[in-house]
Amino acid sequence: MSTLVHDLDLPEISLADGNFDQRRAMRSALDPSLWLLRNPFGFAVLRYEDVVGILRDKRWHSASGRIPELLGITREDFISRQRGSILSAEGDVHVRLRRLVAPAFSPRAADRLRPFMREVINGLIDPVASTGRAEFVADITEPYPIPIICELLGAPKGDWQLFSRLASDILEVFSADLADKLDLVMDAQRELEAYTRELIADRRSRPADDLLTDLIAAEEAGDRLSNDELVMMVNAVIVGGTDTTRNQLGCATALFADHPEQWKLLAERPELAGRAVEETMRYFGAVRGTVRFASCDIEYRNVVFPAGTFMSIGLAEANRQPDVFTDPEVFDITSTAADQPQLTFGSGIHYCLGASLARAELQEALPLLARRLPNLKIDGDITWKPDGVGIFGPALMNITFDAGH
Ligand code: HEM
Repeated sequence: MSTLVHDLDLPEISLADGNFDQRRAMRSALDPSLWLLRNPFGFAVLRYEDVVGILRDKRWHSASGRIPELLGITREDFISRQRGSILSAEGDVHVRLRRLVAPAFSPRAADRLRPFMREVINGLIDPVASTGRAEFVADITEPYPIPIICELLGAPKGDWQLFSRLASDILEVFSADLADKLDLVMDAQRELEAYTRELIADRRSRPADDLLTDLIAAEEAGDRLSNDELVMMVNAVIVGGTDTTRNQLGCATALFADHPEQWKLLAERPELAGRAVEETMRYFGAVRGTVRFASCDIEYRNVVFPAGTFMSIGLAEANRQPDVFTDPEVFDITSTAADQPQLTFGSGIHYCLGASLARAELQEALPLLARRLPNLKIDGDITWKPDGVGIFGPALMNITFDAGH
């Protein structure tokens, strides 16, 4: 016998009020058999099996193209641009895009950039190394991903500044007051589009060893990406690949500052980088959750979710589930327990396309930081970004460390 979801008597969790720990405390006070909660947009699942179950169920569609609508934005030119993105594409359109672009985002493609990643992170540490203090966000996390994304795409060094400005404006798409920033975001999107079209024309005549060349060459059964799709992919790489990496590096470093013995261990044993990245992303992921909506009436666990129902997916909560992870509240970069994968890159068809690149960026940055910023301490309080649905991390984080490394 199935029940309509709206007829269930469910406790409500807020999305924005309180922090992650408060919400978890509230949740653990609830009946453990409760797998579904209500929230201001619709409903929420927080348990690992439901998070994975819903993300792998193709009837639940990505809601990223519907965020403007949830924020009350009605401008059609803006909305249609968001809908064309791989982040919100579904069905055959999405399958085709993923198939064409996936090889360009392989682990091997990311490995090509590792020496460059080390050069960038060392270049950011150099000016602060002798002072023994830094504002970690402005000095390290903010600037880190831009040169890498530029190098990945094949944009020349002279254009880093331009890219950085365009990325900041485009990333306002995640801000709570997006409605007031639409013109800024769209101007930047148009400027990036013009820039990308020139870069594409150049790569068509002079192929290089970069992502854009790979995407231009990508072909399957005679099918290729159009110029519009190439522009969309560049936009998706900026939207998906800059703020996420920045904030994940910020969250990881804040976490290590709370666990000095693990920081020291990583400095001494850089080969732990792979485990360290998975463990920091499990314990303290910068992407706390995502949202889906029911593309049709969906029956799941004997509950009917009518078409259009929004569902929040609690990645961060699932990453700490006791019957899935051994000692989930212990942060340990040496743990080799055969646990399930951490979920901060999502799951299912929209699983992060840039996961190999992001892993490489973090695996290169963290051991170098651990070695060159020994005795890391947070100086004062960290100012955190709002802990809602979007990307979470430090907005301001003063640190001290032993100088001269
Ligand atoms: C630590 C850093 C990162 C985290 C935590 C992260 C997280 C995620 C998550 C959770 C999703 C799935 C969203 C959903 O299902 O609704 C996703 C998708 C995506 N990510 Fe990442 N990401 C990171 C870095 C990157 C990088 C570096 C790139 C690009 C170079 C990238 C590009 C994308 C793209 C294009 C998608 C959409 C894939 C699709 O819809 O098929 N991400 N990411």
